[in-house]
Amino acid sequence: MNASERTNGLTFNPHVSALPPYNAGVNVAIARAAAGREDIARLGSNENFEGCSPKVMQALASGAFEPWRYADPACTALRGALAQRLSVDTAQIVVGNGSEEMIAAISRAMLVEKSTVVTVVPSFGLHEIEPLALGAQVTKVPMTSDFGFDIETLERTIAAGPRLVFLSSPWNPVGPALDASNLQRLIKAVPAGTLFVLDEAYFEFADTGSVDGLELLRHSGVPYVVLRTFSKAYGLAGLRVGYAVCSDAEIARVVASAKTPFNVNAAAQLAAVAALEDEAWMTASVARLRLERDRVAQALRAIGLRVAPSQTNFLFFETKGDSSQLATALLQQGIIVKAWREPGYERFLRATLGSAQDNDRLLAALANHSH
Ligand SMILES: Cc1ncc(COP(=O)(O)O)c(C=O)c1O
Repeated sequence: MNASERTNGLTFNPHVSALPPYNAGVNVAIARAAAGREDIARLGSNENFEGCSPKVMQALASGAFEPWRYADPACTALRGALAQRLSVDTAQIVVGNGSEEMIAAISRAMLVEKSTVVTVVPSFGLHEIEPLALGAQVTKVPMTSDFGFDIETLERTIAAGPRLVFLSSPWNPVGPALDASNLQRLIKAVPAGTLFVLDEAYFEFADTGSVDGLELLRHSGVPYVVLRTFSKAYGLAGLRVGYAVCSDAEIARVVASAKTPFNVNAAAQLAAVAALEDEAWMTASVARLRLERDRVAQALRAIGLRVAPSQTNFLFFETKGDSSQLATALLQQGIIVKAWREPGYERFLRATLGSAQDNDRLLAALANHSH
């Protein structure tokens, strides 16, 4: 037992006390203090800089918002709207306090000590942290040198039969999405006893005609969960609402058993339904974002940086030195980005696409640094 497991005579769960910290974006108040200025370019957390649909604000200002009442623990209205939209059964859907809660709930539903999990590196931190909290063993398949999924190694590690596979596509933090044939190959590698979790947090940002993981998986016969969220394209990050679409009602039942009962608050439920009713706002916002993504990626390449292809609302690129030092320098200029910290990726930086003005601030600062 090491020191961090015992403090003041308490014995912690050793798996939890040994967890690596989640690499959360820098808070805006801290950035203001560090930069000594108010106008911060918030490019650290993959939010939608355009905000959210005005219909969301109307719903929250209406008499339907009753903060003094417990919200519906079954999220009936939202699950109904999602089921219709996605042509699945309501019983296949579980709504979470952000999709991150669903990552925790799936892990709790599936894993015990020493269970095996496969994911990738670099990765969205919780795909590793939540399994580790349960004492699971996590195998991480590195990205290829050209910013791709290593399909052959993934096939092999998936075929070995982990209890869970966590993959995000489009891929946070790198950016590309699995194409249909590669996703098919991975699905085909899934043996009996493995649950395949495809985290599509950035689904809406992918180019028109990109693969729809839910569509592929629902015809595959493989047990799966597809995760999606209102935090990114729909602009509801602060309200915390995401969801799991499970291949069958029994998986959904057990995942729902692993969450807290009143997990999705009243504001989040109302807002998500309103956001779904105004999908036109989201698609217009995403269309603008895609153009800006191309512009900023080209500009970064013109500075001489190696930029990963992106189907998301962020760009991942290799800098010329230690990206943590660069992120600190940028913070002092009022720009929040995320320096990658996973071993082997310390030269990489992830920058969310913001307004053209904020992106230009980032580009100017990076151009200065690369001299
Ligand atoms: C791949 C991925 N999954 C899940 C999440 C969690 O999103 P939320 O809990 O806000 O729905 C994020 C957030 O950054 C993400 O990048």
